[in-house]
Parts: sequence; structure tokens; C-alpha cells
Amino acid sequence: MNAPALPHTYLPPDNLGDPATFQRLLAEETVPVPDFLRPAPAPDFGDADLAVERYFSPDFHRQEMDKMWPRVWQFVARDEAIPNPGDHVVHDIGERSLIVMRGKDGQVRAFANSCLHRGIALRTEGGHVKSLRCPFHGFTWDLAGCMKSLPCAWDFKHLGEERQDLPQVRVESWAGFIFINFDQDAAPLADWLGVVPAHCADYDLEHATTLLHVRKRIPCNWKLAQEAFFESFHVRATHPHIMTFTDDVDSQYDVFGPHIARCITPMSIASPNLEGVSQAEVMRDCIAASGRMADANGDAHRLPDGMTARQYVGEMNRAAYAEATGRDLSHATLAELQDAILYSVFPHFQIWAGYFGNIVYRAMPDGNNPESCIYDVMVLGRHKAGEAKPAAPAVHWLKDDEPFSAAPELGALGPVLDQDMRNLPHMTRGLKSSLTGVVTLASYQELRIRAHHRTLDTYLEG
Ligand code: FES
Ligand SMILES: [Fe+2]
Repeated sequence: MNAPALPHTYLPPDNLGDPATFQRLLAEETVPVPDFLRPAPAPDFGDADLAVERYFSPDFHRQEMDKMWPRVWQFVARDEAIPNPGDHVVHDIGERSLIVMRGKDGQVRAFANSCLHRGIALRTEGGHVKSLRCPFHGFTWDLAGCMKSLPCAWDFKHLGEERQDLPQVRVESWAGFIFINFDQDAAPLADWLGVVPAHCADYDLEHATTLLHVRKRIPCNWKLAQEAFFESFHVRATHPHIMTFTDDVDSQYDVFGPHIARCITPMSIASPNLEGVSQAEVMRDCIAASGRMADANGDAHRLPDGMTARQYVGEMNRAAYAEATGRDLSHATLAELQDAILYSVFPHFQIWAGYFGNIVYRAMPDGNNPESCIYDVMVLGRHKAGEAKPAAPAVHWLKDDEPFSAAPELGALGPVLDQDMRNLPHMTRGLKSSLTGVVTLASYQELRIRAHHRTLDTYLEG
């Protein structure tokens, strides 16, 4: 989709941007501002380049598979995607496969997707089962992974009772997000998530529901897909149509330890790249084109005299979210009601924080192909306390040649994602053609990419 022509003046991009902008906007809030929106102490990551091989080399991919993925917490699914006993997803990472299943006791377990007899994968895809029955000879396990039926048991007397249950890996949850870890000695998920649960404590993610879930294979390394959402200064070149309401180059970037980083991009503020955008345009475009405000019809609103777009959109969201959740949100900052506050959790999970419209991204390697990945996009809403959590909609798996805009449930997010995705297939080609052999990163605005690779290196170096 071509971005619509803009009647505004583009300023020369040199030296635009001020990371202190978000803090100045917080000074205009009329309610107390949570401390966690303040900048974290800036890390000194230096200005080193990254070797291009990190994004396509089979050897680098093999190292990730051997040394990193088996030791990290991996987001698998939302609680409401497997609400009933027997509901499960198949979680594939490289050559390894797990069945992540809810048992009759409500507990979620992650079994190796491998029959204890001759090793066939027990499930090829997620769904619902009454028990886990091997398709080959019919060994059968119950939903807790306990052996239920062993054909010709007289011939398996050597298989002692302790060897009959399906081996499991670790499963832990936070706010309805289910994670697994192959490392039995790993620190708890709560440690891994660092500041995230505390920063999101007031966003009522316990009552989050999955409004949509779209998945697509992207022809690029998983880190490239992940990092396409790690900074906002690609907006001018990649998403010009959102510049009227996205304060792209003024974003605040924070790093909170090895696993957590954040980008805050003020919304309902025109990009410093543009001159001549009226507040009414900012308001209209933010509602119509951001894809995550309480309304999507920008023309249905008129900006009252004396009100800024940021105030209007924030108050519109406040009223709508309070109505949807039954909560009093009078204490919420305008920032948390509309801004893009993205947390990344190493290695491959991202969540937009805030009271509503939380987008979740996940980039998974596609088997052992370092030049392909599986990308998931989810949007979360809330259900009212006391009401049953609705089951998640089925995953909408787009065909390889279908754009995100072919998923109507994404609304205005679809074309924005397509703009991001249009860059990605060309990145591998460009990286392989590099004569410098390196990727050169911005010192500040690409802090999250630096943090990601530094943490990855700690695993690869053992
Ligand atoms: S391989 Fe599973 S029962 Fe034989
Ligand atoms: Fe983007």
C-alpha cells in the first residue's frame, strides 16, 4: 500500500529528535506519574558494530540453538488459547518440539513431543485431545502425561514405572502468558521478567483477553523481524503515513538489565520531521490510523477548542477503557492511555504496555533455516472482573504470499505491519552483499538492539 500523500512540509532529518521530550510531556500530566516511566540509568554499550553473519550464518544459528534457546524462557501461548483440559499447542524451536497442554487439574505442562516407544512426534499441531495417543502403535498418556495404556505390556516389562510418564520441561506463567524453559535449573520466570510485572501491575493483564492472533512466515532471520520493532526512527522512511501522530525520533529508550528493554514513543504528537500539522489532524489520524485506540473512526470526532490532540485521545481512551473494564481509570496518565510503551523480553517476546490495546509480538526461528522466521502478532483487550474469560480466537495463519492487511481483524495495524515486513525480505540479501561486513547501529535509538546482542553473546560465550 502506498502511503497517502501528505500536505505537510518535511524538515531536513539531520539532527532532529530529543529523547527528553517524553519527560517534558509527563510534566504536563494532571495526575501523579509512576516512577517507572522515568528514564532508566543509561547503559554504556559503546558504539561497536555487529557482524552481518549473525543474521544468516548456519553456524551462528547452530550456536543459538545449542547454547541460547535451551536456556531461556520462551513465550508459548496465552492462557485463553488453551482454556480447557486437553487443549494444547505444539511449540517448535529449531529441531525440538514440545506439546504444551492443559491438564484436568487446570495445570499447564510441557511434554517432549516424542513417543517413549520409537520416538515419533505425538502431535503435529495444536488442538484438543482427550488423551495423548501415539499414532504408530497406540501408547497412550493422560493429560498429565501419565501412561494410560501400553499395548502388549507383557513385552515392555523392562520399561519400569518411572520411565512410563512423558518427560516434561519447565512451565511458568505471568499474567496469562505461558512460558517454557528447557533448563531445569533456570531461575524462575519472575526473575527473568525483571521489572515488567511491576511496571504492568496496574494494567490488569490478569483480565486480558486475546482479541486477535495473526501468524506469518517471514523470509528473514528471527532477530531481524524482532529488531524491526526495537526502534521508532524508521517511521519517516517506512511508515510516513503515521508521522502526523507519532513522535518517532523523540522516543525514550531504556534498558533494565540483561533481559528487559523498553522504547516509549509519544503518540498524538506530530513527528518533529513534519511541519504544519494541526492538532485536529493529529487527533483524527491517531484515532484512524494507529490501530490501537478506543475508536478507529477519526472523522467522527471534533477537537474541542483549547484541547490538544494528546488530551483528547487520552480522555477518549480513558472513558472507553473504563467502560469496557468497569474500572475507575481517573488516575491513569495520558501516556499510559495512548503511548507506544514497548517492553522487550529476551529473546523474542515484546508487549505494548498500558491500559488497553496491548500488542504482543513474537519472532521464532523457522526450524533450522536461519533466513526464515515465524512471526506472531496478538492484540489483547480486557474482560470485566467476575466475567468468564472468553477463549482466544483461532490463530489466523497467513499464507506466505498474503500480506498482514489480508487479515481484516488487524484493521489499521495490517498496512503498518506490511510496511515493516516489506523491508525484511531484502535485509538478508543486503547483509550478504555487505562489503563492510558489519551493521552500524545508532548509539542511543538502537540501544535495544545492542542490548539484545550483548545478552545473546553471554549465552553463546557460555
Ligand atoms: S512409536 Fe509410539 S507407540 Fe510406537
Ligand atoms: Fe515499523
